[in-house]
Amino acid sequence: MTSVTSPASPAVHGSPDYRDAGLVFPPGFTFGSATASYQVEGAFDEDGRGPSIWDTFSKTPGKVWNGDTGDVACDHYHRVDDDLDLMRELGLGAYRFSIAWPRIMPTGTGAVNQAGIDFYSRLVDGLLERGIRPVATLYHWDLPQALEDAGGWPARATTDAFERYAEVMGAALGDRVHTWTTLNEPWCSAYLGYGQGGHAPGRHEPAAALAAVHHLNLAHGRAVQALRATSTGDPDYSVTLNFHVLRGLGDGAAEAMRRIDGLANRVFTHPMLKGEYPADVLADTASVTDWSFVRDGDLDAINQPLDVLGVNYYSTATVRLWDGVSPKQMNDGHKGAAGGTAWPGSDRVVEFVEQPGPYTEMGWNIAPEGLEELLLALTEEFPDQPLMVTENGAAFADVVAEDGSVPDPERLDYLRRHFTAAHRAMVRGADLRGYFVWSLLDNFEWGYGYAKRFGIVRVDFDTLERTVKDSGRWYSRLARTGVLPG
Ligand code: NOJ
Repeated sequence: MTSVTSPASPAVHGSPDYRDAGLVFPPGFTFGSATASYQVEGAFDEDGRGPSIWDTFSKTPGKVWNGDTGDVACDHYHRVDDDLDLMRELGLGAYRFSIAWPRIMPTGTGAVNQAGIDFYSRLVDGLLERGIRPVATLYHWDLPQALEDAGGWPARATTDAFERYAEVMGAALGDRVHTWTTLNEPWCSAYLGYGQGGHAPGRHEPAAALAAVHHLNLAHGRAVQALRATSTGDPDYSVTLNFHVLRGLGDGAAEAMRRIDGLANRVFTHPMLKGEYPADVLADTASVTDWSFVRDGDLDAINQPLDVLGVNYYSTATVRLWDGVSPKQMNDGHKGAAGGTAWPGSDRVVEFVEQPGPYTEMGWNIAPEGLEELLLALTEEFPDQPLMVTENGAAFADVVAEDGSVPDPERLDYLRRHFTAAHRAMVRGADLRGYFVWSLLDNFEWGYGYAKRFGIVRVDFDTLERTVKDSGRWYSRLARTGVLPG
């Protein structure tokens, strides 16, 4: 995505009628909200669920703030009916959830656990009964631990297991799911999981991270084919990527942005949407791996037509070239690092530098214009590819008012500004089909545990009580009317 750093030229998809309509979203635009299995379900050892890498990681001292785990999380597994009613009350048009692979196949391969299938089948039926479209992600980071023990994503066999899992899910839910998403943010799975180590399984192996990139790409392509072969309805097929929207500093700005755009963005979009790995990425990483894990036929398998491309966007990133770093430092963690901040490629390495504020509670800078820019850059590079914002939202430290309400003006303002940016991108030609707010519920925010709240619905983690925040009420009006309220 070379054009991500500068606004793309306007209008290829915008309909003239729609362009005149102000902040009205077009009929049929999907307003949804999203969660993920390990972050909300709890019930970590019930009904035959096997352990995932996040169970292991969160129970390893020092890995997650406050020693938090997803053992209980929002207890969504037991409260699913109430949560479904809540979604209906909010007027959501769609719900993006993920399926816990270890509920379906406790060790990742072998026998299918019917209780796991039944849970998601009930969830899908409950959504459809309430007029909410099910958008199901197969993999939102909870790899069965047994597969990690056998090598994890750096091992090719994991893609075989994923293909089989996709077949099982296609056959079980492919008559009712509206949209299938294969992977959520494979960048995180590969680089944070196997390079930087801040996510499960917490490995620090740059070559393994790149092997994981390829095997996640391959898993995606194989899963799309398996889902197509087994789904008896007419679902859409998609993947969700977290794009890096880059700014550069200093004399090496363009080179720093090119490298990270390659490692973070194009290493996924090009094989998936063009059937090739970018030559500059292969060259940049030549001292780490020879990419011999790419076999004949893999790129054809990865390159599957997608009905929508899922876009997760939270903030921008600023990079610069920096002289001299030791191999040890190359593997040390850094917020926003694309697979080890300091990936080799020359004697100058890329460093991520602090962004100008304002910031959310995550320390992420608030930059709604980056979303408009990203949607237009994708439109320019992949003109016929419909897009969906599959995540956008913000963590803030909410305070419960005396009357029990949860005023969250900063989150509301964040959402309003990002929806406005998305609307502007549509007016300028982006074919954006929908938008999912992250998240429906406050939940387990990975390495930060329960300390960071992204929900439009508050969860009291002592009582597990849900309270719709002001941002949730605001979003409800938007979802019901399709008009961005002032
Ligand atoms: C991306 C991930 O998909 C989601 O799981 C996470 O909670 C949000 N971003 C916020 O960090």
